[in-house]
Amino acid sequence: MAVRKIIIDTDPGQDDAVAILLALASDELDVLGLSIVAGNVGLHHTTRNAAMICELAQRPDLPIFAGCAAPLARPLVTAEHVHGKTGLDGVALPEPQMPLQDRHAVDFIIETLRAEPVGTITLCALGPLSNLASAFQRAPDIAARVAQIVLMGGAYSAGGNVTPCAEFNIFVDPEAAATVLACGAPIVMMPLDLTHQALTSKARVAAFRDLGTAAGHAVASWTSFFDRYDARKYGQDGAPLHDPCVIAYLLQPELFSGRDINVMVETQSPLTLGMTVADWWGATKRPTNVTFMTGLDAEGFFELLTERIARF
Ligand code: RIB
Ligand code: CA
Repeated sequence: MAVRKIIIDTDPGQDDAVAILLALASDELDVLGLSIVAGNVGLHHTTRNAAMICELAQRPDLPIFAGCAAPLARPLVTAEHVHGKTGLDGVALPEPQMPLQDRHAVDFIIETLRAEPVGTITLCALGPLSNLASAFQRAPDIAARVAQIVLMGGAYSAGGNVTPCAEFNIFVDPEAAATVLACGAPIVMMPLDLTHQALTSKARVAAFRDLGTAAGHAVASWTSFFDRYDARKYGQDGAPLHDPCVIAYLLQPELFSGRDINVMVETQSPLTLGMTVADWWGATKRPTNVTFMTGLDAEGFFELLTERIARF
């Protein structure tokens, strides 16, 4: 299998952290860098968290680029009540030593897509889409150069997790999401309909802890911390492990199933702001713009994740 070059755009967050570890543990992927966005917590914390995750993975060489500190056109909304004050609560990690890159994340995205051959870079978006949208708005030429965008965001029948009808990543920056969904690049979406099948049950968390490694302990602790909010809210055994679904798709796409449909984003209505309007039944003649994933082999997903985390 050819090594796939990816950029991970992220707002770490415990589930982002697990996704980043999964990518760094996988030889099939060449992570060119992390572009950081504000989302779960402010940009200061998301960049610091990214550095701590890279050092935990023993990758202090991985370039980290700070990006947008706020959405394109509205104030930032964060989620400390879910992820804790730092955004990476659950395990104490050493103060990071690795430096951030000087370049802005948006410049890194644009320059990488222009420098690498057409169709060789995959963008993995794990947070609000402010960085990606800014790149496409500043450099419209790069959209045709993207191999694929795989993003965690949106919802259809699952409803919202930050309002009754909006998922957090889309809600935080709906204008950015609308720009990305209209950019013309091939897009795979992992909505809540999919990620709510990836539940961190007690047995699955124990399997991480039983690895007996620093990475296994961190993943078990992060998923336990992250779990406390969602498990209570949804009354399930475990919390949805959203962002690693993006990386798992690159590694074993057969774990996922979905449908090519049209998805648009509400950017005007205060009642439904950030809602992803998924035309699952083809009720409109709007052009297909995403592969919308709704089926997951959850056992296979956690087998893959546990096996890869065991590699650290
Ligand atoms: O709605 C879940 C998404 O919002 C995940 O990416 C989580 O990390 C938060 O960013
Ligand atoms: Ca995230």
